[in-house]
Amino acid sequence: MRRKLVAGNWKMNKNIDETAELVRSLAASVKDLPADADIVICPPFVSLVIAKPLLENTRIGLGAQNMSQQDDGAFTGETSARMLLSAGCTHVILGHSERRQFYGENDPLINKKVQKAIAAGLTPIVCVGETLQERESGITDRVITAQIKGVLAGISADDIGKVVIAYEPVWAIGTGKNATPQQANDVHRLIRKLLGQLYSWAAAEQLIILYGGSVNAQNAGTLFREPDIDGGLIGGASLKADGFTAIITAALEASKK
Ligand code: PGA
Repeated sequence: MRRKLVAGNWKMNKNIDETAELVRSLAASVKDLPADADIVICPPFVSLVIAKPLLENTRIGLGAQNMSQQDDGAFTGETSARMLLSAGCTHVILGHSERRQFYGENDPLINKKVQKAIAAGLTPIVCVGETLQERESGITDRVITAQIKGVLAGISADDIGKVVIAYEPVWAIGTGKNATPQQANDVHRLIRKLLGQLYSWAAAEQLIILYGGSVNAQNAGTLFREPDIDGGLIGGASLKADGFTAIITAALEASKK
């Protein structure tokens, strides 16, 4: 059975001191929870190094929010996989819709980043999702299929198990409008079937597929109980220790079924 994963995407929030404070309170609030789900937080780059020692001896892993497709070199403003590893990251969010929307990232670029992350031993959390216009035009399945094929191009059958997918409908991110559990599960199911065709059913069954988009303590439970939803990528609600802990608790509860 797949383990649930709850990942916090802090986006461009929290300075160094605020990071230390939130990591400390989060570590304290998850301390006594059962270890049946995985937890990762993804603070901004500058805060990774302060977060790492505070996460020692906790069950919380560390991830970054983006990564260069290049190795070290003359790429002003970029951060390499090697740097993320040395900062203590195990995960990296790639292809978030805000990167696609505001920084021109597209599937071929994200695919290069996914390949680089896997080669470096980082677990990529690869984001896909349709816009409201695409959903209303009835082309969600086509958009998601193209994105999945694009971001995973060239990833081998041996490596597909190292990838986490996050389905994040763009219209649900930061809007307070989450997809219904059924809407979300339908797309998760589509992704799993597609992976079954592209790789194997066994690989597809193992794949962790997160839902993201206005997940909070109130709606997490019903989303996470859906058969193809393996946890969440949490934005706004990951910025408060108690709210994020409630979401982790919902993942633990859903794992019992
Ligand atoms: P949200 O963001 O939970 O604030 O909607 C999710 C995400 O963008 O990863």
